[in-house]
Amino acid sequence: MSFYLTTPIYYVNSTPHIGHAYTTIAADILVRHHRQRGEETFFLTGADENASKNVRSAEEAGVDPKTFVDRLVEEHWRPLAARVGAETDFFIRTTDVGHKRFVQEFVQRIYDNGHIYRDVYSGLYCVGCEAFKSEDELVDGKCPDHGIEPEWIEEQNWFFRLSAFQEPLLRLYDERREFVQPRFRYNEARSFIAGGLQDFSLSRAGQPWGIPIPWDPGQVVYVWVDALINYLSALTYARPGEDQRARFWPAAHHLIGKDILRFHCVFWPALLLAAGEEVPQGIFVHGYLNLDDRKISKSLGNVIDPLDLTSEYGVDAVRFWAARSVQFGQDGNVTLDGFRERYERELGNDLGNLLSRTTAMIDRYRDGELAAVAAVDDELAAAARRMHDEVPALLDRYDITTALDRIWAYVRRLNRHVEQTKPWVLAKDPEQSARLDNALYELADGLRVAATALFAYVPQTSTQILEALGQPVDLSWENVAAGRTEAVAGIEAAQPLFPRIDASATAA
Ligand code: MSP
Repeated sequence: MSFYLTTPIYYVNSTPHIGHAYTTIAADILVRHHRQRGEETFFLTGADENASKNVRSAEEAGVDPKTFVDRLVEEHWRPLAARVGAETDFFIRTTDVGHKRFVQEFVQRIYDNGHIYRDVYSGLYCVGCEAFKSEDELVDGKCPDHGIEPEWIEEQNWFFRLSAFQEPLLRLYDERREFVQPRFRYNEARSFIAGGLQDFSLSRAGQPWGIPIPWDPGQVVYVWVDALINYLSALTYARPGEDQRARFWPAAHHLIGKDILRFHCVFWPALLLAAGEEVPQGIFVHGYLNLDDRKISKSLGNVIDPLDLTSEYGVDAVRFWAARSVQFGQDGNVTLDGFRERYERELGNDLGNLLSRTTAMIDRYRDGELAAVAAVDDELAAAARRMHDEVPALLDRYDITTALDRIWAYVRRLNRHVEQTKPWVLAKDPEQSARLDNALYELADGLRVAATALFAYVPQTSTQILEALGQPVDLSWENVAAGRTEAVAGIEAAQPLFPRIDASATAA
């Protein structure tokens, strides 16, 4: 089995905020989970650099466009993944030579297949969206997403015959009802297609920045077409000397925000069909995070810098919160108070204290020795089995929130188990020695199961838990099963996983 997952390639002319981190974190959770299942994975992220807005920003900064994008990419965008604990396989830049070569070959193929023609385009263009806008999409003459007036553009362009792909796309949507998820996004994309498709301009004239159209080098490829092709081009050169398309295409899954649904769910499959390629396995469209009920965006000035949060609370706390605070797929309101509350109550108490208490008791009552036992509690074992079966099925539907909910129910169950077995009472009575061993083993074993199941979400924490319990860091999904904990010696009371942080000292 192979599993290929992509994030959008982000525009570089601003800096990353929590919204971008959100997509990258969600993607990393899915990829790590598939790795745990032993699948061969490829995880792609990157930068969308050929946008015309970069030329303007570079001019304002007084440097040439390449110098401008190089700086932003290296300072802000390439480091984003690692800063949120994501382990990506490749960072694509659309200024890469390998990308450029592939884009030219790809659009040439569409041209040779007869899907491109020349015409004059005139219309309104929003540089913020990098897209043409119709009058009825504007509010008071301005783009509602960017608050700027679009520009009137009239030029000879190369057009892509999108209209010819209405029927093939509808067939695709009818044959593959899971092609776009969640279902309401599938419906949205399908009704857009059913409503009729207009050809669009695949090139831009009079602009030196971008990838030249191979048969008409005076024009460049429209930035969205250039950008979408990254998902395929990366496979041709990410590993030098190796074309990975045979392995990972069409086993591709695109994770995107709702703002770029049409480009991915309509334009992209049409371009692929026009070039004679297969379409990806699936597209998951997530919602928007709003901060205190307002969309998070640079232009609104209410961005949360993911770095501020990760440096104060740790990477795992941010990842946990991203998956847990909003049902993945829906829009959701987030607040910093809500973040802190979850940090203390769930990570600090439910999980952190459970490890502290368990290791402290093994240390105190058994001198750090965890003894093997004949059997673990039936109900705990059954709960682990359920989690083992249900979580992968949920993650196959990209439902990172419900999957985490199931895992957290198990963590809570372990907390109840401590209260029910009361090891501190058993420890007072030498006759209860076997029961005490059992209780301590069940808690350690439960924590090992929980840590393994949580790994995709909180990789550092999971590793810390396994180490504190003296267990091998073997994260294979098969280990989400009761009774596999090894008898070990030398367990010490663990340091708190999520120490309390004085909220008044943190940024508001
Ligand atoms: N460059 C294009 C994408 C090309 S992909 C072939 C682009 N870039 S972007 O920098 O604007 O990134 C948009 C994406 O960032 C969204 O689709 C989403 O994944 C993420 N988000 C940006 N703000 C967000 C929120 N407030 N909430 C959730 N995700 C957000 O569009």
